[in-house]
Order: sequence, then C-alpha cells, then structure tokens
Amino acid sequence: MFDLKGHVSVLTGGNGGIGLGMARGLAKSGAGIAIWGRNIDKNARAVAELKSLGAEAMAFQCDVSKEDQIVKAVKETVTYFGRIDSCFANAGIGIAKPTVETTMEDWTRVLDVNLTGVFITFREAAKHMIARGGGGKLIATSSIGSMHGMPRNSSYSATKAGVIAIVRSLAVELGRYNIQANAIIPGWIETDMTVEARAFEKLNKTVIQRTPAHRWGKPGDFEGLAVYLASRESDFQTGTAIPIDGGYTIF
Ligand SMILES: NC(=O)c1ccc[n+]([C@@H]2O[C@H](COP(=O)([O-])OP(=O)(O)OC[C@H]3O[C@@H](n4cnc5c(N)ncnc54)[C@H](OP(=O)(O)O)[C@@H]3O)[C@@H](O)[C@H]2O)c1
Repeated sequence: MFDLKGHVSVLTGGNGGIGLGMARGLAKSGAGIAIWGRNIDKNARAVAELKSLGAEAMAFQCDVSKEDQIVKAVKETVTYFGRIDSCFANAGIGIAKPTVETTMEDWTRVLDVNLTGVFITFREAAKHMIARGGGGKLIATSSIGSMHGMPRNSSYSATKAGVIAIVRSLAVELGRYNIQANAIIPGWIETDMTVEARAFEKLNKTVIQRTPAHRWGKPGDFEGLAVYLASRESDFQTGTAIPIDGGYTIF
C-alpha cells in the first residue's frame, strides 16, 4: 500500500509551505515530483531537498494566474516525466483587508490565483489524464475560510469555497475516467502565509486555545494525507473536502 514508485505528482506552490510538505511525503513514497512555482530560488531549493530524499524531482517555472504558463508547464512536465498521475492545485495567496477597502484589483488578483488558477490547472491536467487513460487524482487546497466566517478575507474565502465546488463537479464528471477529485481543508498552519498572523499575539493565542491539538499545524502534517490522496488506496474517495486542522473545525 501507498507505494508511489513510477507515479508522478505535480504540485503548484510546491516550493514551500504546505505544498513542499506534501511533496516530501510523496517523495518518500517513491513518486517523481514536478514543482510548479514562480520563484526560481525557492524552486531550486525544493528540488535539491526532494532529490536528497531520493526522489526524481524537477521544477517548472509557472505563474498559475497565467493560462499559457499552465499549458506550457503541463507540456514540459509530460516531456520530462512522461506522465502526470496526481495534480495538487495548492498555490494560493490572500490579501487580508476590510471588505470595504478591497479594490477590484485585489479581488481579481486573489480570484485569478486561487480559483481560476485551480480551474485551469485541473482542466489541463485532466486533458492529459483522459488522453493517457488509467485514471488520475486532482487535489485542491481549500481553507477553513470556506466554512468559517473569516473577517477581512471575503475574496480568499470565496475562492476556497469555490475550489470545493470545483472538485465536487469534477468528481461527478470525471469518475468515468477513474479520475478522483478531492480537496483538503488545512486549519492554521505555520508557513510564510501566516507569519503575520502568528506574530499577532491575540490571534496566536486564540488559534492555540481553539485547536484541540493545542498547536499550529506544520507542513509535515500533510505528508500522509497527500500520499493517501495520490495513491490507489483512495480510489473510492472522491468529491470530498477533508479537514486537517488539529480539530479546529469541530467547533
Ligand atoms: N498556512 C495556512 O494556515 C493555510 C490554511 C488554509 C489554507 N492554506 C492554503 O494552503 C496553500 C499553500 O499555502 P501556504 O500556507 O503553504 O503558504 P506559502 O508558504 O505562502 O505558499 C504559497 C505557495 O503558493 C505559490 N504561489 C503563490 N502565487 C502563485 C502563483 N501566481 N503561481 C504559482 N505559484 C504561486 C508560492 O510560490 P512562489 O513563492 O514561487 O510564488 C508558494 O509556494 C494556499 O492555497 C493557502 O491558501 C494555508
């Protein structure tokens, strides 16, 4: 079980944070890893680390808010690895602002990366998976903002609820090709995205008090779930959104 030798995973935003955490788990299970990220230095560091775990790894520079770059990244990945078996649409940004101060530029930027980027990534990966045959896995990174009221984050929350709707739709549409689509719902996780939140003492305290695990999550907490969702062990799991949050969403 959970042997991913010969399997190839794409991770958008796989050069840091939760994405790199998932990539480490996949690498340790034998998968080849294609990192799609914008930052060349972060891409190179992630590839070096994954190779040190024994994985075949390569980075492809890609801004997921640009359709042509996603199309190119699929081509480059398939040319290099020969296939894509699982695709983690994980790249995301937040522009935390009071809604009354949120500009159309802010709104569009967040939607372009977090929602349209996920849609195009899955569309292009699915084209490859359908043409190749043999099934595949599509996994989106949502957020507790999809289910809890998160102030100053109306654009972010809308995108994170949106990706759950996308995976439900794809689960129904692509089941006939043995392609499963699921989302993960991280709780509060220690990454670059939450540096400011963790430095805000009141919020930091609330997160730790309200999380039954009494701590922030770490990228390493995502290794096992990534392996499960990429592997054939999850073939009967589709259209779901799985919290991995130390119990935060119980409340
Ligand atoms: N941390 C949390 O508490 C938390 C909770 C719930 C959900 N999430 C979600 O988890 C995902 C990963 O976030 P994280 O917490 O790991 O934060 P992070 O460390 O800031 O990672 C974000 C990743 O997204 C990539 N990215 C951003 N914009 C991109 C673009 N236009 N094109 C390609 N890549 C792009 C970044 O790569 P580059 O630097 O190369 O751009 C980076 O690898 C996001 O979708 C986030 O919304 C995080």
